[in-house]
Amino acid sequence: MVGKDIKVSMIIFSGLFIMNETGHAIDVINVWKKYGDVVALRGVSITVNEGEIVSLLGPNGAGKTTLISIIVGILRPTKGRVLIYGLDPKNPKARSMIGFCPQEPALNDNLTGRENMMFYARLYGIDGIEAKKRINELLEVVGLSDDADRLVRRYSGGMKRRLSLAITLLPNPKILVLDEPTLGMDPNIRRSIWDIVKEVRKEGKSVLLATHYMEEADELSDRVYIMHEGRVIAEGTPEQLKKIYGPPSVIEIELYRTIDEIEEELRNIIGNSVIVEEKLIRAHSRAPDIDVPRVVSCIYKAGGGIKSLKVTKPTLEDVFLKLTGRRLEE
Ligand SMILES: Nc1ncnc2c1ncn2[C@@H]1O[C@H](COP(=O)(O)OP(=O)(O)OP(=O)(O)O)[C@@H](O)[C@H]1O
Ligand SMILES: [Mg+2]
Repeated sequence: MVGKDIKVSMIIFSGLFIMNETGHAIDVINVWKKYGDVVALRGVSITVNEGEIVSLLGPNGAGKTTLISIIVGILRPTKGRVLIYGLDPKNPKARSMIGFCPQEPALNDNLTGRENMMFYARLYGIDGIEAKKRINELLEVVGLSDDADRLVRRYSGGMKRRLSLAITLLPNPKILVLDEPTLGMDPNIRRSIWDIVKEVRKEGKSVLLATHYMEEADELSDRVYIMHEGRVIAEGTPEQLKKIYGPPSVIEIELYRTIDEIEEELRNIIGNSVIVEEKLIRAHSRAPDIDVPRVVSCIYKAGGGIKSLKVTKPTLEDVFLKLTGRRLEE
C-alpha cells in the first residue's frame, strides 16, 4: 500500500513539475519581434529562475524594452514563446504574478504620494485597513514615509521612481519587471533603488531588469544577459563575464624607494607582465586576489615599503567593448 501511495504522489508531483516548467519564473524561447521592416528581436532566449535577479544589459535600441513588453504581455512576439511559471503572459493568472514598472512612471501629479497609492490599491482590489497598512509599509520600504502627504508634482525624479516602485509592489507580485529603474538618476538615488531591489529579492521574489548602466547590472544581478542589436550576445554572472571576456586586472604599486632586482623577483611570482620603473611597479593579473598578497609579501621581504597600491579590475563595460567593439554608455 505504501509503495502505491508513493507512486501516486510521484505522478502528482511530476505533473505539477511539468506545469511549472521546472520552476522557472520566466522562460523566453527563441523570440523574434518585427515592427514593420525593423527587426527588434532576433531569436532571444532567456530564463529567470525563482528568486533570481537577472539583468538585460545593452545600449539604446538593443531591444530591452521590446523584450520586456512581450514578457509582461503588452506585445505579442512575431515568433517564439514566453512562459510565466509555464503560463502565457496574457493569462490573467500570469499577469497577476508580475509587477511591472515601466520606463515612464504613470502617476497623478495633482495627488499626494499616499493618494496615488490609494488609487492603485483600489484598482488592485485592496481596501480599507489592509490598504492603509500595506501602503504605510511600502512607503517605509521606499523611504517616502515623511513625504507621503506632499503633492507628487513637488517630488523629484528619484522620489517619483521610488513611489512607482512602491505601487508596483502593492499587489505583492511574485515577479518584478523593471525597465531602466534608475535612468537619469544621481548615484545616491540610484543606490537607494538598488537597496529596494535587493530587499525585494530577500522575500524570494524574482526580478528582471533592463538597464544600460553597467554598474547597475554588476551590483544587482545574479546573472546578466548582454543584448546587442536584438540578440543575446553573452550570458553569465558578472564575475564569469568579466573573467571570460574582460582584460586582466592591472596592479599598480608605488614604493617609497627603489629596490634592486625586484622586477625579476616579481616576474618569478606573477609572470612577465611586470614592469618596474624606479619606484613604480605595474603588472597584469588574472587572479588579483591571489597575486596582490604575493606581490606585497615579496616587496616586504625585499625590505621595501609601499606608498600606494591600486588594483583596477575589468568592468562589464570592458566586456561589452570586447564583444562588440563599441562602448555601452555613450
Ligand atoms: N513601436 C515601434 N515601432 C517601430 N520600431 C520600434 C518600436 N519600438 C521600438 N522600435 C525599434 O526597435 C529597436 C529596439 O528598441 P527598444 O526600445 O526595444 O530598445 P531598448 O534596448 O529598450 O533601447 P533604450 O535603451 O533606448 O530604451 C530599436 O531599433 C527601435 O527603434
Ligand atoms: Mg528601453
